[in-house]
Amino acid sequence: RPKLPQYNTIEDAVRLLQESKNIVVLTGAGISTSLGIPDFRSKDTGLYSKLEHLGLSDPQEVFDIHVFREDPSIFFSIAKDILPMEKKFSPTHGFIKLLQDKGKLLTNYTQNIDNIEGNAGVSPDKIVQCHGSFATATCVKCKFKVLGDVIFGDIRDGKIPECTACQEAIARDALQPQGLKRKRSSSGHQKDRKEFEDSSDEDDYEIPTPGVMKPDITFFGEDLPDEFGQRLIHHDRELVDLVIVIGTSLKVAPVAEVPGILPRHVPQIYISRTPVSHTGFDIDLLGDCDVVVSELCRRAGWNLEHHMIPAD
Ligand code: OAD
Repeated sequence: RPKLPQYNTIEDAVRLLQESKNIVVLTGAGISTSLGIPDFRSKDTGLYSKLEHLGLSDPQEVFDIHVFREDPSIFFSIAKDILPMEKKFSPTHGFIKLLQDKGKLLTNYTQNIDNIEGNAGVSPDKIVQCHGSFATATCVKCKFKVLGDVIFGDIRDGKIPECTACQEAIARDALQPQGLKRKRSSSGHQKDRKEFEDSSDEDDYEIPTPGVMKPDITFFGEDLPDEFGQRLIHHDRELVDLVIVIGTSLKVAPVAEVPGILPRHVPQIYISRTPVSHTGFDIDLLGDCDVVVSELCRRAGWNLEHHMIPAD
């Protein structure tokens, strides 16, 4: 994306904030690190730098749907470390709420799964949770859905949460006259009782197990929520007049493609500790995002402090 030559400085960024009416804010893990939640890729402090003990060839496999299906214990061994916490939020979340209160927030596309935008009072209809969230969980087997906090206790205890709907169905089936179902033998016929009893092959028994409850986070290998593409292409693309990207390394597609998908004439600001080279922003404001947004607000004459008080 070629840079727009008329936008360069922090003063330009302040003016854009003041003049814009439909701002798309794209956020990543960097906006929550000041609350003690690790990001993913920062050297030494990011979650991925702390997963060596899991013995994965790539730490991102912890969020890989194929790995999860094979062995959910890998994900649940770290899930408690990324579980959303109490009603805290950072000045950067407060800044997004301030844009909403000024009627300037078109959409906050967040890759974060911590639900902290809601703590700051950002309205659900202004948020697209691109990578899902812990707000709900679904059984991998029967698709039974529960509110996320139903399984938080298990996650905190390091246990694998099991589906209660499956458990009930198994208990019901066990009371049926035929009890445990038998699989067919390899010849395609039921083995006779003698052969069945002699067999040491446990595969001959169909031992029913409940499904695992998977938090509705978008794992690698899963589709993003439909709302992501729908809203971006069929709604926001027409309306957006400023893009602000905050605290993301933009390493994960398709979210990383959002700046390139939006119209070229719309100015784009990047706020983060680490610069990105693979996409061109008009204004890079490098540093701690809480400090940067506070300074932008100070220069714009906006009271960010006020927006640090939760809505409820
Ligand atoms: P990353 O860890 O890749 O990037 C976070 C960015 O924020 C880095 O550029 C940091 O330098 C920067 N950063 C950290 N703290 C900051 C602070 N206080 N102020 C300013 N910048 C700060 O995280 P994401 O880009 O969000 O997906 O990662 C994207 C996706 O990759 C995640 O949603 C997750 C992960 O795999 C899934 O789990 C599916």
